[in-house]
Amino acid sequence: MNSEFFGRWSAGVLDRVEQALDAWVPANAPAGLGDAMRYAVLDGGKRLRALLVQAAAEAVDASASTGGVDAAMRAACAVELIHAYSLVHDDMPCMDNDVLRRGKPTVHIRFGEAQAMLAGDAMQALAFEVLTPDGVVGSEQVEPGVQARLCRLLARASGQSGMAGGQAIDLASVGQSLDEQTLRDMHHRKTGALLRASVQMGAACGGVQDSSPVWAALTAYGEAMGLAFQVVDDILDATQPSDTLGKTAGKDADANKPTYVSLLGLEQARSEADALLAQALEALAGSGLPAARCQPLVALAHRIVNRDH
Ligand code: IPE
Ligand code: IPE
Ligand code: MG
Ligand code: MG
Ligand code: MG
Repeated sequence: MNSEFFGRWSAGVLDRVEQALDAWVPANAPAGLGDAMRYAVLDGGKRLRALLVQAAAEAVDASASTGGVDAAMRAACAVELIHAYSLVHDDMPCMDNDVLRRGKPTVHIRFGEAQAMLAGDAMQALAFEVLTPDGVVGSEQVEPGVQARLCRLLARASGQSGMAGGQAIDLASVGQSLDEQTLRDMHHRKTGALLRASVQMGAACGGVQDSSPVWAALTAYGEAMGLAFQVVDDILDATQPSDTLGKTAGKDADANKPTYVSLLGLEQARSEADALLAQALEALAGSGLPAARCQPLVALAHRIVNRDH
């Protein structure tokens, strides 16, 4: 896929995701909660997780499955809601204490701590509501079995075995020098799990079963990209200015967080990211999926590792 085609493909996806989120995140939640939720999730972020869901759905031709297109849009938005909630809580004073996110004041700065906590809680619940629509199963509806599977994948990636567990390790590790294996485990959980789940959810929308080689290959791709993503996040924190990042630069060193950069140095962290990119592409090439259908996943892998924010 040339970059022009990928640009068009991703612009189309981003447009549809933005419209769907705009429709699903309520403005009229009580006592201003809707304003905080919409501020947290709309008009911001690279939407890499949504793009991964959609790219994986494309790779397995989810549009050929009953309700596959609807399922993949719901999955893309649900992952972004969980991600946005994790950022709102990550930025709070009790965690990373950040004032800038996506180029704007963080949610607790804008709306207060209690509202930020509640907006996060409500976005987490909304993600699972989005995955489980009411209604009779018809050609456009998501099969109940697929709904349940998408919920399971997302719940496992978000909870103690994934993001929340990784965040707990992150906070418990301040000031410590972790060994590489422990650091890798933390990154796999706090960030990698949700990226891997994004790929798996896209595959689940096309009915790919857990036992199939395609599932294993896409899982390997998602796992490598998930870790690569956080390695690059650590690198960018140390190398890019705040206005490029849209969040405060240099926070990891200031907060004495163990990262790939503090453990390995910039150069080795960079080669680790490149090695993970190669690993992800190799898994994809061995998946047996048609190369043409995998182009968005290939392009996204390059973008995740070579981004500047
Ligand atoms: C930042 O994620 C937080 C981490 C998990 C490291 P992104 O870099 O994907 O943030 P947005 O969604 O583009 O703002
Ligand atoms: C956050 O990691 C991961 C989440 C689960 C939100 P970071 O704390 O490194 O993310 P940034 O750098 O603030 O975006
Ligand atoms: Mg953090
Ligand atoms: Mg943070
Ligand atoms: Mg970071």
